[in-house]
This record gives sequence, C-alpha cells and structure tokens, in this order.
Amino acid sequence: MTDTAPSAGRPSRSTNEAGAPAPSDEHSLTLGPNGPILLHDHHFIQQMANFNRERIPERNVHAKGGGAFGVLEITEDLSEFTRAALFQPGVRTEMLARFSTVAGELGSADTQRDPRGFALKFYTSEGNYDLVGNNTPVFFIRDPMKFPHFIRSQKRLPRRHVRDNNMQWDFWTRNPESAHQVTWLMGDRGLPRTWRNMDGFSSHTYMWVNAAGARFWVKYHFKTDQGVEFLTESEARTIRGDDPDYHLRDLYDAIERGDAPSWTLSVQVMPYADAHDYRFNPFDLTKVWPHSDYPLIRVGRMTLNRNPENFFAQIEQAAFEPSNLVPGIGVSPDKMLLGRIFAYADTHRYRIGANYAQLPVNQPRVPVNSYVFDGPMAYQHSGDSPVYAPNSYSGPSVPDDPFADHVWETDGDMVRSAYTLRRDDDDFGQPGTLVREVMDDAARERLASNIIGHVSNGVTPEIRARVVAYWRGVDKNLGDKVATGVGVE
Ligand code: HEM
Repeated sequence: MTDTAPSAGRPSRSTNEAGAPAPSDEHSLTLGPNGPILLHDHHFIQQMANFNRERIPERNVHAKGGGAFGVLEITEDLSEFTRAALFQPGVRTEMLARFSTVAGELGSADTQRDPRGFALKFYTSEGNYDLVGNNTPVFFIRDPMKFPHFIRSQKRLPRRHVRDNNMQWDFWTRNPESAHQVTWLMGDRGLPRTWRNMDGFSSHTYMWVNAAGARFWVKYHFKTDQGVEFLTESEARTIRGDDPDYHLRDLYDAIERGDAPSWTLSVQVMPYADAHDYRFNPFDLTKVWPHSDYPLIRVGRMTLNRNPENFFAQIEQAAFEPSNLVPGIGVSPDKMLLGRIFAYADTHRYRIGANYAQLPVNQPRVPVNSYVFDGPMAYQHSGDSPVYAPNSYSGPSVPDDPFADHVWETDGDMVRSAYTLRRDDDDFGQPGTLVREVMDDAARERLASNIIGHVSNGVTPEIRARVVAYWRGVDKNLGDKVATGVGVE
C-alpha cells in the first residue's frame, strides 16, 4: 500500500459528521450560481470550522518527530531487582516509541545537531509505563528550575525570531554543568545517521522494588542492534536541504520493508544503600555511572515492527509522561525527574485536552477504574458506579499494599539550594574523560571542528572567551584547539 492509497473500510459515499449523506464536496450552497453563500449551508460551515481547528499546539519541545509500535521482550530474570510485571522473564509487552529532535518546530529538519528524544510507552498488564528518555545518558542541567530558561536559549530570539548561537553559548558557559551534555551534542552523537542507528537512555535514575520490598537504583540503556552510526556536519547539511524528513522517512520505510529495528535493553543497578556515600551524587543528571562500578545487566530486546495507521492520531496525539509508573518502579531523588513528573501531564492537558488519556493511543490495555471522570470530550464512563470514595456500593477501592508508594527517607530544612557536593562532584571531570578516553583522534577532531564551526557563527568576543575557558576546563588540548579556531588567545 502506498501513502496515498485509500484506507480499507472507508465508506465510498461522503457523509457529514453525523453520518448523513453529504450534499457536495465541491460546491457551496449559493443564491444562484453567482450569488452569495447561504448561512444555512451547514455542510460547508462544518468543513471550514473543522479545517480552522485541525491543528493542536505542537509540543513546546521535541515538536518534530516520528514513531512506531513494537514489542519489548524480556529474555533474562531480573525479578530479584523488580516486581514490575513488564520486566518478568518471558513477558512480551506491546509498546509505542517516538523519536524527535528537541529545539526545532514541527516542520524543522530531522538532521539538525540536537539531542534526540527516545520516548517509550509500554502498555503493561499493570497499566502504562512511560520511559521518556534521550539518545544521551546525561542532560544539560540538574535543577528543573532552569529548564524553561535552557529551552528558551535554544529556541528563537524574541525580536528577530531566529535561532542564535550566541544565546546558546551564553547559557551553556554560564551553566558549566552543561559541559558533559554539550560534549555529546557537539560530538558524533549529536547527529545520528538514522533513529535506527542511535542508542537510548533513561538518563535519570529510577527506583526498582522487588516482591519482598527491597529497593534498588537503576538506569536503563537501549543499545541499537543496527550499530551506532552518525552523519558528518556536511552530510547532514546536504540532507537537510534534500529531505528535511530524512529520519521520519527512514524509520517508516525500514518497517514497511520488514526490516524491523531493535534495541538490546540493559540496566545498571546500584544497591539502595550505595547511594548514600557514592563518590558523587548518583542522582545528578549530568553524570553517568561508570560501568566499572555498575556493569550493564542484560534485560531483553525492544523491536519496532508496526507503523502507525494515522500519524496525527497515534504520534501527534501520543502523550508520554514520566509520571506513568507501575508497581515495582518508582522515581528517585533526581530533582530533574521530580520536576518532569509534574510537567508532562500538565502540558498534555493544554496541548491535547483534559481527557488526553482516553485517546486510543494513550489508553492503557487494562481497565481504568479511576475516580477522575467527566470533563471535555469524556467518553469512557463508569455507568452508575459511585462517583466518590469510600462508598458502600462496590465502587473501586484500594487494597492495603505496603509497597504501593516507592519511597525513600529524607530529613532537613526546606531550602533552595544546589545538591550537597561530594568528593567527585564537579562539572568537567566526566566530559574530560569522554573526550580523552572514549573518543579516538578522529572523533576528537570532529568535536573540535563542530565546536569551532558553531562558535564562529555569531558568537561575540566576550562569550567566545568564556567558550574557550569552558572547553579548557573539559580538556586543555581541546580548549587550546578551540581557542585557535575561534581566534581567542
Ligand atoms: C517532551 C518538559 C527534561 C525528554 C517534553 C515536553 C515538555 C517537556 C513540556 C512536551 C511534551 C508534550 O507536549 O507531549 C520537560 C521538563 C524537563 C524536561 C520540564 C526538565 C525539568 C527532559 C529530559 C529528557 C526529556 C531530561 C530526557 C532524559 C523528552 C522527550 C520528549 C519531551 C523524549 C518528547 C516526548 C514525545 O515524544 O512526545 N518535555 N522536559 N525531557 N521530553 Fe522533556
């Protein structure tokens, strides 16, 4: 079937929205062939009114993306770490993935240098579990208070309405905790060849709880089975002009030809007590956990094998939210994650509507027995079931479950403060290791050249000097190379 083939099962006779035969798809109702249009041409008005309302607001971030359905299969036994049904051995869970760029708008090119969103929704037997990650294991900031500021620095200038490298480097250099993520971004991972050729990460730390109530800290890694591949800056520039939808098209075409992409899922597990005195704050989103301390443990495989039948209904209206958790999985003291728990459902109520969770793509595959009800466009109803709890009329109720909330202990005064610093908490150590020990000479060359190219385009001398200090902090050689490239002593 081609993209333009008619959908099977669509009636051949046009109707209005109420299902009655439509009078015409070509002519409005007028007073004589050349006369004015009549107000009671309801069919014409319905078509126009719908057209005027056919867009919903695009996502404020991650607006441009695409996705597909698939399955997560658990091949190993991790029940000692979590009781979550979806992670038990042999379990297969239907799922949806959406990949995206971050800063660009809905029509922007796929091959811009940017982190890529890696959003997953698992329709588990215990309700929806959403893992809304990126293709990088770290992030630019560590306090959600900074998120709107960070995003605005990546978007458009208020007056000229163009993107501005000066604004980006101003923000990054004034927030040195960004250095690790900016190293990823300016390196090869900032331009994946296709969505199929990139890894995905939870980035955040989550809590896992087993059947006995024992708690663990966990980070997820989805390693692409297609191999990591990247585009060079010049390749990406050409593709941007030829086909702005390059990544969207690639994923769709691969699945249509039966070449279903897959990712191997592994986790790093940290015993609960280790977090207290680990050498750096393990919940800081600008840090990775060294594999030498917490090696990867294999979990299973995710395969994307089914394209959406309708992009708007299943991808544009998909509502991913880190607040969708299931028994056996909880949040951690990562402030960024805690901020996100609020943000997503809130934006969905605005972007899609109060009852976004009732749309087929967002509906769990298990019954919903919630006391949240009614509101605009509500169509899932519980008949005459009681609307309050507790009640004496067999309305749903909550059994006692000692592990229902996955909690951790805390004590202290209310403060507005950065995380307490530990021995190895710094901003430049891990990005320095990435540059010196993970990248090879060619990758380091491309990193330097990408930074120089970016900074040479519209960044003021004052901020250039800060850029050089920032990269000298990460790695002296890299900083010196950038200094020469951008004309700073
Ligand atoms: C999308 C907020 C940090 C990954 C979004 C959206 C908002 C948002 C409002 C649009 C959602 C929609 O309209 O459907 C925030 C806030 C953050 C934060 C407030 C920090 C405090 C992060 C981090 C990651 C991430 C750290 C990755 C580790 C994503 C992804 C999407 C997204 C993948 C796109 C989801 C989709 O495909 O629909 N974020 N975000 N965000 N965010 Fe975040």
